[in-house]
Amino acid sequence: MSNIKKLGVLTSGGDCAGLNAVIRAVTYRAIQGYGWKVLGILDGTAGLMDDPPRFRELSTDMFDGRLLREGGTFLGTTSKGDPLNVRMPDGSVRDLSPEFARGVQTLGLDALVAIGGDGSMRIVSKLCERAKLGLVGVPKTIDNDVHGTQWAVGFATALSVVTEALDRLQPTAASHHRVMILEVMGRDVGHIALNGGIAGGADIILIPELPYTIAGVARRIKELLAQGRTHALVVVAEGVKTEDGKKVSIQDLTGHSRYGGIGYYLLEQLVRHTGAEIRVTILGHVQRGGTPSARDRLLASSFGVHAVDLVAQGRFNRMVAWRESGVIDVPLSEVTIGPRAVDPNDPLIRTARGLGIHLGEQRAKPRD
Ligand code: F6P
Repeated sequence: MSNIKKLGVLTSGGDCAGLNAVIRAVTYRAIQGYGWKVLGILDGTAGLMDDPPRFRELSTDMFDGRLLREGGTFLGTTSKGDPLNVRMPDGSVRDLSPEFARGVQTLGLDALVAIGGDGSMRIVSKLCERAKLGLVGVPKTIDNDVHGTQWAVGFATALSVVTEALDRLQPTAASHHRVMILEVMGRDVGHIALNGGIAGGADIILIPELPYTIAGVARRIKELLAQGRTHALVVVAEGVKTEDGKKVSIQDLTGHSRYGGIGYYLLEQLVRHTGAEIRVTILGHVQRGGTPSARDRLLASSFGVHAVDLVAQGRFNRMVAWRESGVIDVPLSEVTIGPRAVDPNDPLIRTARGLGIHLGEQRAKPRD
């Protein structure tokens, strides 16, 4: 058993629905189950690295109200850069792990629960290793690309948003005899597009893991129209590249480039190849917000309780995870290897094909 008196909890990386529910479960279990103090670190690792560190002591009565039901994270989060490699104005690179260790010492933390995606797990585990602080991870991301777990907090709610978007697009597509392209998030992986597309009745789903051709997508649209369908729904993951393998991105005014824009590339190509009337919707950050779904709240609650129990048992460097129908834990080293792509043998690929959903096809090999 570990000798814990003060537990830190933080959220790191992009927000999603269900984070407050995890913080609540961690707080309830740590205080009611073990009598520890719980400090909520503000704005992710940034709050610990500030001098003085920024935090809020958490109590169970804080969660009597609406927090379980609220999206976002009331602690704040940060998704900017890597504190182990911060580029300074003079071009030099700084490692802020000593600042992190100082924050841990100042607050007297005995262990940390970090709620984050695969990138955050990698960064926070290095920071904790250097600060000699026991860490337990809780996976969260709408992208659902964390290794070791079938579900990450936030994914289920994002799927409901995508499904609802398709429910809203279908009647307008049918009324105007249009093809609707819905571009969804997911960085370089297609879990949101595949799952949301099936749930929302898409005709075509394009994900970064499976190749496609414009001719193939156009053929499928023409087939549907020839069969008497008045409209079609296309879901595309933001990380899908152009047919010839170029990344599509949006440049903001600071020159920073973000994922997005593949929907408009498809529109241009498909108008040319099909003559159909096409509209594009980029769903964007609404996928991260909203009331957490029941599934996300169940996941968050199970994860929070299990994470605190792992801390109590001194079982550090582990991440809580969901497999089959229950919560387990896996070594962090299995998680920090990069994003988890859609497996070509994922049963949902079979389901989609079984429903007649077009998922792309191999490009013809160039002739010698
Ligand atoms: O990783 C989660 C995610 O929502 C991605 O799906 C998306 O590409 C990205 O974050 C957006 O990040 P930002 O908050 O920087 O706009």
